[in-house]
Amino acid sequence: MQNDIQIAPSILSADFLRLGAELDAIATADLVHYDVMDGHFTANITYGQFVLEQVKRGTDLPVDVHLMVANPEEAVPLFIAAGADIVNFHWEAQTHAHLLVQEIHKAGRLAAITLNPATPVCALESIVDELDMVLLMSVNPGYGGQKFIESTYGKLRALRRLCDEHHVCPRIEVDGGVGAGNAEALVAAGADTLVAGSGVFKQADRATAIADLRAAAARGRLAHA
Ligand code: DX5
Ligand code: ZN
Repeated sequence: MQNDIQIAPSILSADFLRLGAELDAIATADLVHYDVMDGHFTANITYGQFVLEQVKRGTDLPVDVHLMVANPEEAVPLFIAAGADIVNFHWEAQTHAHLLVQEIHKAGRLAAITLNPATPVCALESIVDELDMVLLMSVNPGYGGQKFIESTYGKLRALRRLCDEHHVCPRIEVDGGVGAGNAEALVAAGADTLVAGSGVFKQADRATAIADLRAAAARGRLAHA
């Protein structure tokens, strides 16, 4: 497990009429999570590389770009050019994962692969050594505000075992239905990076929500140690 816990608010649940103020309100977080949906890999469509350029101007935090798109081979260069700090593509959508990871690294960015809830962790057996981060979806991608899928805990433990066997330590991120109520258990199971959309932006105060997530994660950290 990486030393520090990272909190990554997903701006999918932000108020886009006040996006600059929303970015300011999450300045105490560690990453901005940026969900790209293309209407193919997911039914919904969100925002693309031009909005990312604006977001990069509105925050000092690194941006974690979660590409829920059918052709990551085409999308990755566009989001690298727009300033993605972490490029996160779905295992289920790609053909040449190794090549894509090399391309991301060649651009000097961090490379991450995302697994849908039904994709087993063993899919990463031959590539985990190359990754800076693995994202486990704890809902089916496409919407904010969904119910957390409980089998994620077992997957977190399996991923942690796989990483230990390979003597590697990528960040382990979890996304979907995460909040102060389950952050402790998620970190205890092996997560070190927590994405929260409604868990931050549907709360009365964003900074308090981030602080609550951090406090819960710290308790999970003690349990994991
Ligand atoms: C879902 C997205 C998530 C979403 C999480 O497909 O990948 O990042 O914003 O939203 P919450 O935290 O509300 O489940
Ligand atoms: Zn996401």
